[in-house]
Amino acid sequence: MNMGFKDILVCFILHLGVLLTVTAELIQKNVIVGEHVVLPCLNGTDQHSNPTITWKYDNKDILKYMHSKTYKVDASSSYAFGDENKRDFSLVLPDPKEGIYTCIRNGRESTFDLKLWELIGSPSGYLPVGETLKLQLRSSGAQSFKIEWFNPEKIKVTGNEARWKLRDNNWSLQIEDLQVQDHGNWECHVLSRGLRMPYKVKVIGFLNPLESETMFAAVNSTVIFSCPLTINPFKISETVPETLIFRRMVKESIKKETTLINNSNDLPQKIIHKVQFEDAGRYQCALKFRHKDLNKTFNLVVMHVSKVEEALCCHISGPVLPMTQLCWISVNMSICNCSFAEDKFCYTPETPGLWRCSLKVENDVKISINYTVEGRKTEENKNKFPWTEVTIGAGILLFLLLLIMIAVCVVTSKSFKQKK
Ligand SMILES: *[C@@H]1O[C@H](CO)[C@@H](O)[C@H](O)[C@H]1NC(C)=O
Ligand SMILES: *[C@@H]1O[C@H](CO)[C@@H](O)[C@H](O)[C@H]1NC(C)=O
Ligand SMILES: *[C@@H]1O[C@H](CO)[C@@H](O)[C@H](O)[C@H]1NC(C)=O
Ligand SMILES: *[C@@H]1O[C@H](CO)[C@@H](O)[C@H](O)[C@H]1NC(C)=O
Ligand SMILES: *[C@@H]1O[C@H](CO)[C@@H](O)[C@H](O)[C@H]1NC(C)=O
Ligand SMILES: *[C@@H]1O[C@H](CO)[C@@H](O)[C@H](O)[C@H]1NC(C)=O
Ligand SMILES: *[C@@H]1O[C@H](CO)[C@@H](O)[C@H](O)[C@H]1NC(C)=O
Ligand SMILES: *[C@@H]1O[C@H](CO)[C@@H](O)[C@H](O)[C@H]1NC(C)=O
Repeated sequence: MNMGFKDILVCFILHLGVLLTVTAELIQKNVIVGEHVVLPCLNGTDQHSNPTITWKYDNKDILKYMHSKTYKVDASSSYAFGDENKRDFSLVLPDPKEGIYTCIRNGRESTFDLKLWELIGSPSGYLPVGETLKLQLRSSGAQSFKIEWFNPEKIKVTGNEARWKLRDNNWSLQIEDLQVQDHGNWECHVLSRGLRMPYKVKVIGFLNPLESETMFAAVNSTVIFSCPLTINPFKISETVPETLIFRRMVKESIKKETTLINNSNDLPQKIIHKVQFEDAGRYQCALKFRHKDLNKTFNLVVMHVSKVEEALCCHISGPVLPMTQLCWISVNMSICNCSFAEDKFCYTPETPGLWRCSLKVENDVKISINYTVEGRKTEENKNKFPWTEVTIGAGILLFLLLLIMIAVCVVTSKSFKQKK
């Protein structure tokens, strides 16, 4: 009876000891999905020259070291000892799974409770400006943790921002109407677990995201439509599922499309050499995504001047902005018209010389073309010239005649004197 009680007591104490040991060595491991993990196998009390090591996963043997040999239960799996030759019996898990991992080494157990954490962005990959991105924190050991989010400038998200919304007890962050400045590494901190999970938010858009840009060109000049992006999608290794195209718009529909860049060295631009009057109109660069397109619009206004009989005419075509004026300007005068009919403004200059047609928007000169008017007065001068020449010629002749007459007189008077 006494012995029996003692046995039970000893047994209880032994069990308690084992329980305490196990509890003391149950180590919580929080691992981010995709990161490899190394679980150390704690040294046993007796430093055996030839130890036996067993790694278990959810109570099943997976890796063993015995009689100086390594045994792997599932040969195809990626886990391994750190370096058994150097007596490093830690378990290396390149692609860890959640669960309980135990190392038994000469009677001593080290147990790890491995929890996986993941930060998922949806949609994934490169996103266009204006898109909504949802970042979701996931873990099997769902408990009430204190979670905080930080933007690329390491500024804490409070949830009171206009475009950033915290949901699910901070387990998710929604970034609405993505902007170029949202591009970068965001972080989610699980405070009690000491986890700092990064997420690279990738935003792409046009560099000058103006609604539309108006360009002015003279006939026969070169026009460059430039559509630089915040990131050159052809210079990043990751495939971005979009194409950059250039297109002509007629009213609201697309008339002609061409792929703008298909080569990593190309600049995202479209050049029109010798632009013509008919080229005026609306153009777009468009970045096509899976579920959202970005576009940048250009309005091209083309101008040229002509002479119709005595009048100088300045013609424009294209989407003319309100507050547009056409002006004919010379050295000493300027005449403008803001209600020109048939997209032209004609003026008959009274004086010859250099005339300039300027297109002004809100008194800002956008483009000018020079035109030199040949003067009628110059022609009159040319006609007068021969007479002047003749007059000068007659004067010289008269002068010569006078000289001859004097000479003759002198000679005659000398010979008369001699005769005397
Ligand atoms: C385990 O034992 C080895 C050899 O004695 C020693 O080098 C190592 O530091 C020990 N590791 C731990 C975690 O105690
Ligand atoms: C959620 O985040 C905000 C801002 O960081 C913080 O003030 C709040 O305590 C968090 N709530 C939880 C449940 O973690
Ligand atoms: C444009 O160039 C063509 C050929 O080079 C020429 O015939 C035409 O007169 C030019 N037009 C204008 C408005 O300068
Ligand atoms: C790029 O596209 C143009 C037409 O848009 C085409 O003529 C050219 O051959 C293409 N170049 C490459 C390298 O695909
Ligand atoms: C261009 O983008 C604007 C908004 O940025 C959109 O309203 C418009 O429909 C787009 N145009 C085309 C042709 O996709
Ligand atoms: C401008 O100058 C020309 C001569 O250079 C003159 O004939 C003309 O009358 C002047 N016009 C005005 C408006 O002053
Ligand atoms: C401006 O243009 C309109 C329409 O062509 C014309 O009736 C008007 O006389 C012009 N004004 C001037 C100052 O030339
Ligand atoms: C037009 O004439 C002005 C004044 O002489 C001059 O400054 C300008 O460079 C000329 N522009 C062109 C395109 O010839």
